[in-house]
Amino acid sequence: MKDQNILPKLFTPFKLKDIELRNRIAVPPMCQYMATDGNPNDWHIIHYAQLARGGAGLVIVEATAVSPEGRITPGCLGIWNDEQMANHKNIAQAIKKAGAAPGIQIAHAGRKASANIPWEGDDHIPDGNAKSWQTIAPSAIPFGGSLPKVPKEMSTDDIQRVKADFVNGAKRSLEAGYEWLELHFAHGYLAQSFFSSHSNTRTDGYGGDAKRRSRFLLEILQAVRDVWPDHLPLTARFGVLEFDGNDEQTMKEAIELIKEFKIIGLDLLNVSIGFTIAETNIPWGPAFMAPIAKRIRKETGIPVASAWGFGKPDLAENAVRNENLDLVMIGHAHLANPHWTYYAAVKLGFPKPSWVMPVSYAHWLERYKS
Ligand SMILES: Cc1cc2nc3c(=O)[nH]c(=O)nc-3n(C[C@H](O)[C@H](O)[C@H](O)COP(=O)(O)O)c2cc1C
Repeated sequence: MKDQNILPKLFTPFKLKDIELRNRIAVPPMCQYMATDGNPNDWHIIHYAQLARGGAGLVIVEATAVSPEGRITPGCLGIWNDEQMANHKNIAQAIKKAGAAPGIQIAHAGRKASANIPWEGDDHIPDGNAKSWQTIAPSAIPFGGSLPKVPKEMSTDDIQRVKADFVNGAKRSLEAGYEWLELHFAHGYLAQSFFSSHSNTRTDGYGGDAKRRSRFLLEILQAVRDVWPDHLPLTARFGVLEFDGNDEQTMKEAIELIKEFKIIGLDLLNVSIGFTIAETNIPWGPAFMAPIAKRIRKETGIPVASAWGFGKPDLAENAVRNENLDLVMIGHAHLANPHWTYYAAVKLGFPKPSWVMPVSYAHWLERYKS
C-alpha cells in the first residue's frame, strides 16, 4: 500500500471544455477490423462498453474513416453515411452509460489504405484484387515494405473533397453522440504524410517548406473547428517526430504547427510518432514518449496526452504527476485487462474511488492487493 495521504494524480478528474473525465486514464483508438462496409456492429458496442465499464475516463473509438477510400482495411469503421452514424449512436451511448466520455478518432489512411486486415496479412491488397482500391497521397510515393502500392498524387479537387469528408465526419460524429473528437494527423496516414518531407514532394501550395507541408492539416482543422461545437473538446493525434535521425528539425517544425493548431482552437494534442517511413530507430521502452510530450506541452502550452508503454500503474502515475501529461493513453494493457483502471487504483493504493461500483472494487482489491 502506498502512502494514503498522497492521492494518485491519475485519479483526479480532468476537465476539458464542458467535459469532465472521472480520471486521467484514456483508452486510445485501437482498430478492431470487425466492421463490414464501415458499419459498427454488436462487436463494437460490446468492446467499447466493456472498456468504459472498466473505469477509464475517456474511451476513444478506433480510426474511423471519413470516406471508403480512407479505410486502412475493409474491416475498418467508417462514418461517411447516415446508416453508419446511426449505428455509432449505440457505441457512444454505451460508453457514456458506463461512465466514460465517448470519443472518436476520424481518419483518412492515405497511401497506407487498401490493406488486408492483420490476420489476413496486414499488407497491401494487390491491385486487381476485387477488394483493393486506389490509394491517394500528397505525392505518388509508396510507403514501401509490405505497403508497396503507388498512390495517386492528389489534385486540389481531391484535397477539397477530403476536407469536406472530414467536415461531414465531424458533423456525423456529433450527431452520433460523441463528445470528444480526435483528428488522426499521425502514424503516416494522409495528414501526417502531407506534413512529412519523406512523403510530400509537392511543388504547389501544399508542399515544399514546413509551412506549406502544414497547410493541409491546418485547413482540415479549421474546417472541422467551424462545425464542431466550442463546448466540446476538439483534439488531434499527431506524430511530432519520426526517429529518423532528423528529429530536432522535425520537432521544431511540429512545434510551430502545434502553435498554429492552438490559435485555430485545438484543445489537446495526443503526442505520437510519425510512422511515415519504414526505416526508423524508435527507442521502444517504458514511457519513452513522456519527455517528448512534456516538451510539446512546455513549448506550446497545449494540454497533452500520450501513449506508448504507460501500461504499468507507476509509469502512468509518474507521467501525470511528474512529466505534466494531462492524460495517459493505455492501449495494449486495456486489451489484456479492460478493467485496467481498477487494477491501477489498487496498485497505487487509491482508497475506494467514487466511480467504482462496490462489488467490483472489492473483487479487484482482493485480487491485486498483495
Ligand atoms: C490493435 C491496435 C490497433 C490500433 N489502432 C489505432 C488506431 O486506430 N488509431 C491510432 O491512432 N492508433 C492505433 N493504435 C495505437 C494505439 O492507439 C497506441 O498508441 C499503442 O497501442 C501504444 O500504446 P500502448 O503501449 O499502451 O499499447 C493501435 C494499437 C493497437 C494495439
